[in-house]
Amino acid sequence: MGNTHRDHTGDRTIVRKAVIPAAGLGTRFLPATKAIPKEMIPIIDVPMIQHIVEEAVNSGIRDVILVTARHKEAIENHFDYNYELEDTLERKAKYDLALISKKIGNLCNIISVRQKVPMGLGHAVLAAAAAVGDEPFAVLLGDDLIDAEIPCTKQLIEIFQKQNASVVGVMEVPKDEVSKYGIVGGTRLNDRLMHVTHLVEKPPVNEAPSQFAIPGRYILTPKIFEILRRTPPGKGGEIQLTDALQILAKEEKLFAYQYEGTRYDTGDRLGFIDATLAFALKRPELCGGVIELMKKHLKSRV
Ligand code: UTP
Repeated sequence: MGNTHRDHTGDRTIVRKAVIPAAGLGTRFLPATKAIPKEMIPIIDVPMIQHIVEEAVNSGIRDVILVTARHKEAIENHFDYNYELEDTLERKAKYDLALISKKIGNLCNIISVRQKVPMGLGHAVLAAAAAVGDEPFAVLLGDDLIDAEIPCTKQLIEIFQKQNASVVGVMEVPKDEVSKYGIVGGTRLNDRLMHVTHLVEKPPVNEAPSQFAIPGRYILTPKIFEILRRTPPGKGGEIQLTDALQILAKEEKLFAYQYEGTRYDTGDRLGFIDATLAFALKRPELCGGVIELMKKHLKSRV
């Protein structure tokens, strides 16, 4: 990493900004996503994107750059104050609920940028270039939830600071699932860390360089913007972040870190149900009721 990636205190390794791409069409969740952004669909009562923003904030990030699109205003509104609601709740002495709403408005600085055409994840990240500027930043996908004791992004920032180079979070997936993800290849440095030499987007099983998949967490140097500008459309006619990372791995260094935590693909219907059940079972006020419901439904199936 060059000397240019400094924050105002001169520290080149401070990650202050996160980019959350949330401009996709969410076709797997139609018809729900016809008028509602996929990222606003709640896991019980918390929109999935709030979990993502909280992960960024709990990792020390204060500026969150949301990449949104037309009809996605609900996401921006969710992270703003809602004076009417908060005032009404306070007048009814529902202070706890008013506070829940206010706290979301106070979470972080939200900067909103538009991706005018959904031309892929790489294209969405590039839309945030001016807002990020010349400093390292995190990328968290708006529909990938990672439940971890130490937030996944925080784990990756630590590796970024130690290695002084870009890092992607990876998880080991079964062989028959490699074709669903970007897959990394390279040299193992220890049980969790790999020096990445190449990446392939959604490879067939026999062409996958490993079973380590990138679900949607990255810490990147701003070099990626310059690379994205010259990355041609790849798979599906979209500008793929994986293709740009492949070049980054050659022109700078790139590491992969097998983070600790459980990942839920909440943009997929079964992944969404999985996350909903797991989060409900973790809430004391819901756990008993959910177990009873599951028993009832299982009984009616046998
Ligand atoms: P997905 O691959 O889940 O795409 O993107 P999608 O369009 O949202 O959903 P499906 O596949 O049609 O159901 C992963 C994340 O990247 C964002 C999405 O909003 C999602 O949070 N994304 C994807 C963009 O911001 N822009 C794009 O062009 C594509």
